[in-house]
Amino acid sequence: CGIVGYIGHREAYPIVTKGLRRLEYRGYDSAGVMLYNEKGINLCKTKGKVSDLEKKAKAELDTKGTIGIGHTRWATHGVPNDVNSHPHLSNSGNLAIIHNGIIENYAPLKEELKNRGYTFKSDTDTEVLVNLIEEIQKTEKTKLGKAVQIALNQVVGAYAIAVFDIKNPEEIVAARLGSPLAIGIGENEYFIASDATPFIEYTSNAVYLEDGEMANIRLHKPIKIRKIKDDSLVTPTVQELQLNLEQIEKGGYDHFMMKEIYEQPNVIKDTYRGRLNANKGIVQMAGIEDNIEKFLNAERILIVACGTSWHAGLVAEYVIEEFARIPVEVEYASEFRYRNPIINKKDVVIAISQSGETADTMAAIKLAKENGAFVFGVCNVVGSSISRESHAGAYTHAGPEIGVASTKAFTTQITVLTMLALRLAKAKGTLSNSDYHRYLMELEIIPEKVKEVLSTNDITKEIALKFKDSTNCLYLGRGYNFPVALEGALKLKEISYIHAEGYPAAEMKHGPIALIDEQMPVIVIAPKQGHYDKIVSNIQEIKSRSGKIIAVVTKGDTQVRELSDYVIEIPETSDALSPLITTIPLQLLSYHIAVLRGCNVDQPRNLAKSVTVE
Ligand code: G6P
Repeated sequence: CGIVGYIGHREAYPIVTKGLRRLEYRGYDSAGVMLYNEKGINLCKTKGKVSDLEKKAKAELDTKGTIGIGHTRWATHGVPNDVNSHPHLSNSGNLAIIHNGIIENYAPLKEELKNRGYTFKSDTDTEVLVNLIEEIQKTEKTKLGKAVQIALNQVVGAYAIAVFDIKNPEEIVAARLGSPLAIGIGENEYFIASDATPFIEYTSNAVYLEDGEMANIRLHKPIKIRKIKDDSLVTPTVQELQLNLEQIEKGGYDHFMMKEIYEQPNVIKDTYRGRLNANKGIVQMAGIEDNIEKFLNAERILIVACGTSWHAGLVAEYVIEEFARIPVEVEYASEFRYRNPIINKKDVVIAISQSGETADTMAAIKLAKENGAFVFGVCNVVGSSISRESHAGAYTHAGPEIGVASTKAFTTQITVLTMLALRLAKAKGTLSNSDYHRYLMELEIIPEKVKEVLSTNDITKEIALKFKDSTNCLYLGRGYNFPVALEGALKLKEISYIHAEGYPAAEMKHGPIALIDEQMPVIVIAPKQGHYDKIVSNIQEIKSRSGKIIAVVTKGDTQVRELSDYVIEIPETSDALSPLITTIPLQLLSYHIAVLRGCNVDQPRNLAKSVTVE
């Protein structure tokens, strides 16, 4: 979900709708805009995509006006339909609001408002909030900003909001708690958005609201930021944006996902640039150097993450334990935070998050901090909430990831975590000198190998053609490639809606083998390094049950080739670094299958890029 707002001298409608398109990657199921001109508030909302909104607007919306707000909604309360879409108006029709997040105590607030005569058109928590603000304006006789502040002090939940009041049409009030909000500062104009992408062609100056802050954004006046809780003023910190337009455009690819898959050789290089020098035997990252003692004294490392980032955490478990011999546990952030976990002062908690905004991961690190653990963030989005909440961290320099299905974020996370493992191994002397140098050298040439695997794109496409109509798929891998199997299955599920499961290959005989018949494609990750003989036996087990085998093998392999229906060849790589390579054909495979099935690859149904609700 995403929010966009504009107040200035230009027509707001094209800015807001283009902005909403830029935020499409965040995932949503309905969209809406509100514009204000001399005739009053004009509203248009619809279930579906921004293109549906534009169609509807063409037919029925007065698009004039230099102030406007827009929203893409990912349903939490109430199904996706026109009425539940934002913006929502207050009962008087004077206030309009857009909201990302969730108001947890909306039910009692709604009851109270109903008792006072308010009626509700939608099932949303947001409509409760806008009416609460209106009620406060009335009873307290306050202006919009104050009323918003009082209301927010009564709500429990997470939000990024923008509110407009027809009685004071030169102002938008914005606030955030747990859901990001950026304000772009132009000349006599302001932009409001969930991230900076909607306004980068207009200004490179932005203020990011911190949690618990609100802003009065008024035409021809400097923005005023204050703390919602105690009303204290905050001096805005204006940041210069590093983003450029090219980074957020498709650059000739049909989809962002494909562009991002192909960016991997470069972004892996960006991630280790300045940190890794194989010739000199150096691997270092500022966040680790400054805190190396914490890591070396750690009795264990806990990794918390969600989704694809959790899979990167599993790879990290294998590589940190093998290289640095520190016990590692990997947890879903959502489970960790609610199960009264044991956290010790000597624990190092690594939080992995592409967006740096995932609500469960954020809550997990807060819990870890409360219990005295040292928190190290591995985030992609610079300045994101998790990166700021962590004691220290290392960015993955993947650049903006727009496709909802994570690709380059995953491989760059693994790159950072592998470097971390190597750095700790060096400090602890747990790897032999020759192994240490060998891994450094190998990591440095990984981008070349990724490039080489990308050249299997055509073969992958052919395989996709054969399996595009499958209803189920099994992914198998062992050791380092077990998390890769999970990630491969997740990619397929996310974008093609084919049911897929990832399994440790040896576990297949404890259940999934029952599913295997001639209809069932089984993708086996079977590189030469690793438990090759064991996986060959697993492949034989599949073959004798007539399963269709698609194998990812090391170049020159003959044994698995003979047993498989299709093979995808990858360059030889040591076992520990192989996930960086074996992941690539699985990304390509799910991409092609999804395209052939006519799916919306970049914005799969029901999914959001950044999940700021629990
Ligand atoms: C969502 C995204 C996934 C992502 C997960 C965790 O589900 O669709 O691609 O892996 O959130 O997000 P994070 O930003 O914390 O890595």
